[in-house]
Amino acid sequence: MIELTDISKSYGTGAGAVEAIKHISLSINKGEIFGIIGHSGAGKSTLLRCVNLLERPTTGSVKVGDVELTQLSTTQLQRERRRIGMIFQHFNLLSMATVRDNIAFPLELAKLPKSAIKQRVDELLQLVGLEQHAGKYPAQLSGGQKQRVGIARALANNPDVLLCDEATSALDPQTTNAILSLLMDINDKLGITILLITHEMHVIRSICDRVAVIDGGKIVEMGDVLDVFLKPQHSITMDFVSQIADSFDPRELINTRSGRLVKMNYVGEITYEPLLFNAVKSTTVQFTILQGTVSRMKNTPYGQLVIEFIGDNGEIDNVLNDLRAKGLEVGELK
Ligand SMILES: Nc1ncnc2c1ncn2[C@@H]1O[C@H](COP(=O)(O)OP(=O)(O)OP(=O)(O)O)[C@@H](O)[C@H]1O
Ligand SMILES: [Mg+2]
Repeated sequence: MIELTDISKSYGTGAGAVEAIKHISLSINKGEIFGIIGHSGAGKSTLLRCVNLLERPTTGSVKVGDVELTQLSTTQLQRERRRIGMIFQHFNLLSMATVRDNIAFPLELAKLPKSAIKQRVDELLQLVGLEQHAGKYPAQLSGGQKQRVGIARALANNPDVLLCDEATSALDPQTTNAILSLLMDINDKLGITILLITHEMHVIRSICDRVAVIDGGKIVEMGDVLDVFLKPQHSITMDFVSQIADSFDPRELINTRSGRLVKMNYVGEITYEPLLFNAVKSTTVQFTILQGTVSRMKNTPYGQLVIEFIGDNGEIDNVLNDLRAKGLEVGELK
């Protein structure tokens, strides 16, 4: 649905030039929620704004659907941009306009008849749960409500793609979760492709299918969220994963514990099975959980544990093999 091919973007020229994006290629599938994570200045906003050509890449091509945006005239581009909604960290609402008028604005630009506008705005108010607030002004709304207006406005013209630039970064954790649920709902109900950027791993874990990690204008790691999260390869990715994992370094344990230390990852429904108990129950092996997380990634449960096994080595080997046979990934730390 979105095809970026060898995109680069420089600001300025000569000695003062900043190369914000360097040779990025990215392919995002229809209906996917794709996240881009990176530290401040990594080039996230620049990359996102290249998708609707709010920033024109210095080189490379941008395709959304079947349309090569970089080839279009200004008028054609204006029309194509209606298929790409966008929401912002600071909402960017018209402060002098009511909620209803903010949402109606893109429909007026598209020159829809008044009655159609009213009907569409009513639908959108309902979709984002703001029916009771239609006559209010942005200053009378909470941050979460303002972002709901932003989302409704972005969806007004039935876009195929929604771009989200740090859409929850100005919100408290509870409101963040409500907005993330709304985005997931919209993706589900409308099949809209969502590309979001964030510096919070929590956002990626909650709603994204795939993620790209960007640093210094380049993609340093990319893959299914579950894979990237459970097996981060790049140090930047590890930083982000440690934002949400309960992750003191298990190597610290190695020097202080006398048993065999094992790290295990597991994903899916087995997360909720009594696997450890079953594996040891007919043996004399004992175990202690030293560190662990059991949680969900989008809709998939997963667990990550560091466990100390104490007992006969041969018996422990059998227990570990038994766990592997059940589908757990088991690696010995010591
Ligand atoms: N309009 C501009 N003119 C000149 N340089 C810019 C411009 N916009 C961004 N940059 C530079 O490009 C680089 C990438 O900026 P960008 O805003 O894309 O980063 P970001 O990952 O979105 O950061 P943040 O998390 O702080 O929003 C930075 O070095 C920034 O200073
Ligand atoms: Mg930014």
